[in-house]
Amino acid sequence: MKRKKVYADEKPFSGLTLAMIFAKPSARTRISFETGFYKLGGHALLLGDEIGIGKRELTKDIARVVSRFNDVIMARLFAHADLLELAAYSSVPVINGLTDWNHPCQIMADALTILELRGSVENCRVVYIGDGNNIVHSWLELARRLPFEFVCCCPPGYEPNADLVRRAKEAKCSCIEILHDPKEAVKNADVIYTDVWASMGQKDQIAERERAFAGFQVTMDLLQASGRDDTIFMHCLPAERGREVTDQVMECNQSVVFQQAENRMHAQNAIMLKCLAMA
Ligand code: CP
Ligand code: NVA
Repeated sequence: MKRKKVYADEKPFSGLTLAMIFAKPSARTRISFETGFYKLGGHALLLGDEIGIGKRELTKDIARVVSRFNDVIMARLFAHADLLELAAYSSVPVINGLTDWNHPCQIMADALTILELRGSVENCRVVYIGDGNNIVHSWLELARRLPFEFVCCCPPGYEPNADLVRRAKEAKCSCIEILHDPKEAVKNADVIYTDVWASMGQKDQIAERERAFAGFQVTMDLLQASGRDDTIFMHCLPAERGREVTDQVMECNQSVVFQQAENRMHAQNAIMLKCLAMA
């Protein structure tokens, strides 16, 4: 999508509408989906709290109403089961804009960013430092399909879902490690990646998580502990500077966080073209 300059020349979504359902806050996901769909000729609708998905109206009813009007749905929900229900009852494609379980569009954009900077994701060593959360789950899903080294380094008790780790290992595609010592984990890393210690829906756990994650902050020292000067720093954003990452790391030359953010739009437009059988 980025190379083809399709935005200037083609309007494949002309006359189509994208419904964006948000049960949680968002900046990048909302901006990138709405802007991207518009740039390809379509119109996007923001459906926030007012539709009360699962509260004012059952998810399965919302699915059937929204899909009678719109050509594609993107939803950011809490429970993954709700997203699956939305998809099961929708007559149009439903794209996951993040659930408590995973965040596939983010990792597609991250893979594109690594591809641009390294030429390939294959054989890279991606070291994630922090909570074994929805971002890690999507990295594990990618690792079942593309061969690379994926390390999740987290405090004991904050590991990603054990079943997903087992399935990623069984796929025998990538090398997967779950470690607990950040300095050891980052050795020879192509990528050091982090995310917030308390995800949306966990903000009441900030104090206990700050204690648990002490020592897991990405600092300049940790970046240098890779032993390489070409290690890139990634973060899905929004970042909490002073918690999971320092301001210095966010602003340093090795940080590619805003390229990642921009790539959300290109990756998602490719996903939507595919879902709408146009690619
Ligand atoms: N990375 C990401 O999904 O950002 P938002 O929560 O702002 O959409
Ligand atoms: N793990 C974070 C990702 C935000 C894009 C969250 O779920 O809040």
